[in-house]
Amino acid sequence: MASATLLSHKASARHSTRSYRDPSGPPSPHNTKKGIAIVILVILIIIGGSLAGLAALPKRKSQSSEPIKDEHGNIIITDDVYFYGDSEPIYPSPSMTGQGAWAESFKKAKQLVGRLTLEEKVRLTAGSSSNTSCPGFLPAVQRVGFPGMCLADAGNGLRGTDFVSSWPSGIHVGASWNKKLTRTRGEGMGREFRTKGVNVLLGPVVGPAGRVVLGGRNWEGFSSDPYLAGALVRETVQAVQGVGVITSTKHFVGNEQETNRNPGGDLQSVSSNIDDRTMHELYLWPFQDAVHAGTGNIMCSYQRVNNSYGCANSKTQNGLLKTELGFQGWVVSDWGAQHAGVATALAGMDVVMPNGDALWGEHLEDAVKNGSIPESRLEDMIIRTIASWYQMGQDEDFPPPGVGMAIDLTKPHRIVDGRNSSFRSTLLDGAVEGHVLVKNNRSALPLKDLKLLSIFGYSAKNPDVNNPTGGLSPWLFGAGSFDYEEFGAGFFSWSGSTAGKTAIAFNGTIYSGGGSGATSQSLVVAPFDAIVQQAYDDGTALLWDFYSGQPDVNPVSDACLVFGNAYATEGADRPGLRDDYTDGLIKHVADRCSNTIVVLHNAGIRLVNQFADHPNVTGIIFAHLPGEASGRALVSILYGQSNPSGKLPYTVARNEKDYAVLGPDKPEGIFARFPQSNFTEGVFVDYRHFDAQNIEPRYPFGFGLSYTTFGYSQLSVQRSSEANFYEYPIGAVVEGGQEDLWDILVTVEAEVSNTGDVAGAEVAQLYLGIPAGGAPVRQLRGFEKPFLNANSSETVRFELTRRDMSVWDVMTQKWRLVRGEYKIEVGGSSRDLPLVGTVTI
Ligand code: BGC
Repeated sequence: MASATLLSHKASARHSTRSYRDPSGPPSPHNTKKGIAIVILVILIIIGGSLAGLAALPKRKSQSSEPIKDEHGNIIITDDVYFYGDSEPIYPSPSMTGQGAWAESFKKAKQLVGRLTLEEKVRLTAGSSSNTSCPGFLPAVQRVGFPGMCLADAGNGLRGTDFVSSWPSGIHVGASWNKKLTRTRGEGMGREFRTKGVNVLLGPVVGPAGRVVLGGRNWEGFSSDPYLAGALVRETVQAVQGVGVITSTKHFVGNEQETNRNPGGDLQSVSSNIDDRTMHELYLWPFQDAVHAGTGNIMCSYQRVNNSYGCANSKTQNGLLKTELGFQGWVVSDWGAQHAGVATALAGMDVVMPNGDALWGEHLEDAVKNGSIPESRLEDMIIRTIASWYQMGQDEDFPPPGVGMAIDLTKPHRIVDGRNSSFRSTLLDGAVEGHVLVKNNRSALPLKDLKLLSIFGYSAKNPDVNNPTGGLSPWLFGAGSFDYEEFGAGFFSWSGSTAGKTAIAFNGTIYSGGGSGATSQSLVVAPFDAIVQQAYDDGTALLWDFYSGQPDVNPVSDACLVFGNAYATEGADRPGLRDDYTDGLIKHVADRCSNTIVVLHNAGIRLVNQFADHPNVTGIIFAHLPGEASGRALVSILYGQSNPSGKLPYTVARNEKDYAVLGPDKPEGIFARFPQSNFTEGVFVDYRHFDAQNIEPRYPFGFGLSYTTFGYSQLSVQRSSEANFYEYPIGAVVEGGQEDLWDILVTVEAEVSNTGDVAGAEVAQLYLGIPAGGAPVRQLRGFEKPFLNANSSETVRFELTRRDMSVWDVMTQKWRLVRGEYKIEVGGSSRDLPLVGTVTI
């Protein structure tokens, strides 16, 4: 739950008739006890003086209290002790080293921190209230010239305020496969945050990584492929931070389902149980790219990793992040994700949000005074935080924190316009390029010579209300088109209605998904609005019905457009990958209209098997979540002003059962109180699974049509003559890991030609088959997107790094460059790879 958001709207929330559970509030007695238990345990461990040795102790799988039984009389686990040691203990927490680019900021931060009192230091480790709508606010220490910091959502644009843009969401950016455009989006978005006085952008998202196909937040991230997600997170981090705003790359790590993400009552959060190799090759991979790109902040996640809470997990934070990846920035808790005091500090969490009242604050001061937490750890927390502030130049020329974040948009407030007209074309291009055309029969698209166009479906138009109405209004959370009671059930834990039961937003089109990753929708162009304008210019007659599931259809329509959506939101996983209402509507129209084109705004994977083969369904577009330019972008594609160039950043299956992991794991059996999610499929998610199991997808990963055609030729594979090919990297750890992991070992080139008669862009993809046991058949390891005029060609170049060609070796705890023959495939999708070559290492 975005409890910070809730905090910033506390006043109005109090007047709300609804009640909600605020996870940042007082801890449950259960958690307090657990916190005390962990504190005692940690102290004992320190006294014993051998933390590492404890890992070797036999696991105690005993119950510490009377056995408790479930309703069937089965004994269930009631004590965390059962899981002790599942996650390797890594202590102490590594201090910031100030290496490389961080040297100067590190020095300045140390000096500033040296001037703080203990009380001031403690104050800087936790959020505080403010008279802004910043979901998180780090307090000022004016005495030393630190004005505080505003932390605000999220990765798809600044949420919950006015005069900002609604940018294409993560999944849409992923579908564009366009690094340059991603960078420009990051810059445009970053500037808006900066103008509004937001120091930390709470994004981008690379966790969830898309393991659970029904996951409620997959749309916030770029792709279910770690390489694609990693390449785009790199662009985003560098671009946002390039304009002086710190990125909080989130949610670290293994945050794959919304169901049971937070503890409640007798239940603990779900545990993502991930083996070491899978962790490195899949879930950590894009975080590694973000750290390598210099992300100043990482947000630790709600759920548990190998049965240790994300923000109290010494293996992931001290071990993976701060040791192996050499992370120099600070770790902020997700809102309300702290469930232990001393343990989170020792495990490497640096700042708690939205406040530290329950477990840090004065308790942290006590813990430092009584020696439970070394003062050096406390100082490291703040040095990391303040260093990132210096690193982005926020000490020099940054607007006052939260200056453009009015606490209540219904009350008089100062206008701070974050938008910048030079990024309007980026908003439109971004919206265009994330549309993926997957069916285009009988050249249905682009539309031409329309005398009559008929439009159907609840999702063509804007919702009736698009207005911040005070308090916890749907506008703040991208929930204007959805059932707000149901949204609140998941997001605010409102009781009385069920979360995750409805698949669609039936009150209108969607520009983003729901929750903290939603965008602020002020100037939005719905598909219908843009079509009306176009039809007006062309003199096309328009008929529409947005209400009926079985509309009448004028038989002389030249084309029928059917609009549906697939909604998803933070706080709940999705009920399904298809919905019979929308599919029924599509079939109904298609039965009556020989040229039916389906447009689905999908916040995640949407199956189409129920109608895709209908002979009258001539076109299908996955329109994803385009942001404010939605309608304009769609019209430009429908009418051929733009040539579609998006490709699927995930696999569309024929049936649900084809996926490795469809839905979330639930509490069950002896784990009724400690839900377990075992990532037993390993790295075999999405196309890796389809390839391994030989399952034919409906539309493969990387697939998308264009109005032109492309050809591939002239593959060349070149081993570097300079790089070393040792089996293991030998370089020093820099931000992102050992520095030679980024050495380019092999260069691949191929010629891409536009063989059709209109200009267009093609996403050329390189897949690598690594000759190692347990490696997928192929993995994406490069992509380029040249724009080609008709009958022209271009040579694209892919650079394979040591990491790209390695597997994670659990014995040596290093990336291992495998010996043998690697297969290299290049083409237009993961299942259309005409160029095949090899390279031997
Ligand atoms: C979400 C985060 C978000 C935070 C602040 C949490 O509920 O998980 O992604 O940044 O709230 O609103």
